[in-house]
Amino acid sequence: MKQENLYDKKLKDMLVSEMQRIFGEDIRRINHAMNVLSYALKILAKEGGNGNVVVASAILHDIGIHEAERKYGDCSGVYQEIEGPLIAGPILKRTMMLDDDIKHILKIIANHHSARDIDTLEFRILWDADWLVNFYDLLPAFKGNKELLEEKINHIFKTVTGRTIAKTEFIINNKLIKKGGNDVLFSM
Ligand SMILES: [Fe+2]
Repeated sequence: MKQENLYDKKLKDMLVSEMQRIFGEDIRRINHAMNVLSYALKILAKEGGNGNVVVASAILHDIGIHEAERKYGDCSGVYQEIEGPLIAGPILKRTMMLDDDIKHILKIIANHHSARDIDTLEFRILWDADWLVNFYDLLPAFKGNKELLEEKINHIFKTVTGRTIAKTEFIINNKLIKKGGNDVLFSM
């Protein structure tokens, strides 16, 4: 099925503008959310699942980051997981989403760093989409070791599609480039 038929486009647009309003000038966070959304839609198209839950979770998953910094001076996962649902809840309640879907999204946001209390398909899609974006930061540490990369990918990713995208992007399409005299793994 086409990606745009898997979710409510008006809902997506409304959540994107709320996310942009909250992140303000923090373009890095906005881009991160949009990149996670893009991967989440690719995985959703193959794996199935509740499209609106996936879209809302992807757009809002890090929404508590500024509040965590402001309140605790620390944006590590544990504080984001507390603050995220407090900000996302009122936004989601202004939509036409079902209460059960809203609860599901808030649970995904509340667990997306630890994967503690949830293992739904929609959670696994968000988890993999977030890791696909964040994995780029880990790449230099592997120094082109494909076996280690594959082991790590198999360990981290929770959906077949997420794992396949990761292997395609980080192993098959990877090139070693020379940067500053060192071999650095460079994707795409
Ligand atoms: Fe994230």
